[in-house]
This record gives sequence, C-alpha cells and structure tokens, in this order.
Amino acid sequence: MATLAGKTILIVGGTSGIGYGVAEASLKSQAEHVIIASSSAAKVEAAVSKLQALKLGGKVSGKTVDAKSTESVRALVEGVGEIDHLIWTSGDALKMGFPDVDIDQSKGLFDVRFWGAVTAAKYAKLKKSASSSITLTHGSVNIKPAKGWSLVAGMAGAVDSVSRGLAVDLAPIRVNAVSPGYVITELWDGLSEEQKQTIFKQASETLLVQHVALPHEVAEAYMFLMKCDFITGKTIEVDGGHALTG
Ligand SMILES: NC(=O)c1ccc[n+]([C@@H]2O[C@H](COP(=O)([O-])OP(=O)(O)OC[C@H]3O[C@@H](n4cnc5c(N)ncnc54)[C@H](OP(=O)(O)O)[C@@H]3O)[C@@H](O)[C@H]2O)c1
Repeated sequence: MATLAGKTILIVGGTSGIGYGVAEASLKSQAEHVIIASSSAAKVEAAVSKLQALKLGGKVSGKTVDAKSTESVRALVEGVGEIDHLIWTSGDALKMGFPDVDIDQSKGLFDVRFWGAVTAAKYAKLKKSASSSITLTHGSVNIKPAKGWSLVAGMAGAVDSVSRGLAVDLAPIRVNAVSPGYVITELWDGLSEEQKQTIFKQASETLLVQHVALPHEVAEAYMFLMKCDFITGKTIEVDGGHALTG
C-alpha cells in the first residue's frame, strides 16, 4: 500500500470541510509536511492547532491566502517552495437562482474555484515527475445541475475541462479532479440548521448509498489521486450515486 511518506502537500482550502479531511488523511498516510491555506488567519490558526493536536507525526503549517487575488495565490505557492502535491478545495459562497441573477455580479463565481486554481497550477513549484500531482475540485452539479444552478454548473464544467488541459500542459506532473456530491461541511453554514437538515434528509433518502458524506469519505479520492502515479486527466465522482438518481 502506497503512503505519502516524505511528501510535502499544499492544501488550499485545507482549513475546513473536504480540504481539512484531506489534511488529516494525508497525515494519517505519513505525509512529511502538510501546509493548509485559506483566507481567514483565525481559521488557519485553529485548523493547524487541531491537526497538531492529533499528534499524527508529520509537520503541519498554515498560510493565509486570498484565492480571489492572482498575486496572493502566486505569492503563496512560490513562497512555500517545492512541493509534491497541490490540492485545491478552496471555495467561497455560491450564488444560485439563475435566471434571476445579475450576470456581471455573477462573473466572480469563477474567481476562487477556477482562476485561483489555475493560478496555483501555473506557479506551484511541483517536482517535474509523475509522482507529483495537482487535484482540483468541482462537484456533481457539473453533470446533474439542479434548477437555478446553471452558472455553478458552468463553472464546475470549466474546472473539469481545465484539469484535463493542465494534465496535458504540465505533464509529467499529473492533474486530476474530484467531483463531490453532498458532503456535510461548513460550506452549508449559510443556511439555517432547519434548511440544512431538510436538504441532508432529502438527499439521504434519495442517494443510492442512503447517506450524505462526511469529509473523510471524499478525502479518500484525493488520497488515491496523490498516490497513484498512473492516473492523470481524470475526474473521480464521489457522489453516493447522485448521478443515477431520478
Ligand atoms: N460540501 C459539499 O456538499 C460539496 C459538494 C460539491 C462540491 N463541493 C466543493 O468542494 C469544495 C470544498 O468544499 P467544502 O464543502 O469543503 O467547503 P468549506 O468547508 O466551506 O471549505 C472551503 C474552504 O475554502 C476556503 N476559502 C473560501 N474562500 C476563500 C478565499 N477567497 N481564499 C482562500 N480560501 C478560501 C475556506 O477558508 P476561509 O473561509 O478561511 O477562506 C475553506 O478552507 C468547494 O469548491 C465546494 O464547492 C462541496
């Protein structure tokens, strides 16, 4: 079984949700150094302390970055130096409700998940080898848009496509993506507790796996994509069978 022994992994978006799950799983898989980054210094500090308290062995450090800013993302990835793996799970609040949206105000939807990720991929100092990898993140909305989610689906499709383009342009470094379905994370915190419970209950009743994911279940896909030196240009859909439901 492959491990991440000796590897340095930068997780942009690693302070909560899926990214935090990948950070914890990486340490459990013997990563030498896990660097988590996000925009809130308080969240970075809290997540680093929480990971260090697990005493899993590897070094943990944190950085702040504004993924909406090209300069900030470039400074982050150049500043951390050589890495083996770049994971991008950073994502800000989503705007749905198409067609009742302002188009100009909606264009920022691409800033963090698409442009931030592309900037990181361009400037990251990854070892030029198939043992290095970049993993981007989009979502099951890419192939199964809910009503009102057109623009989010468009952005997800752009991330999906660019991951294949980057796999060609950055080879031999491998570039893949993970497309999660419903995962219980802080991303849903903008909703009331009642709204969240309604959505999760409905999803649990319709998903083939009969439950909504916890971050560690989705983190497994990122672990595989980091460890397998023979996969590139692929998306792993970790959606509990969402695409096959009515
Ligand atoms: N959870 C789901 O059900 C689900 C389903 C499908 C797809 N996804 C996608 O999976 C990805 C991860 O989602 P998640 O559920 O793990 O979300 P999450 O728990 O909200 O985590 C998002 C991360 O992004 C960071 N972030 C937000 N804005 C940022 C900015 N401007 N600059 C830098 N970092 C920023 C957040 O930290 P700060 O606040 O400190 O910046 C946080 O670390 C997202 O792209 C999401 O759309 C999630």
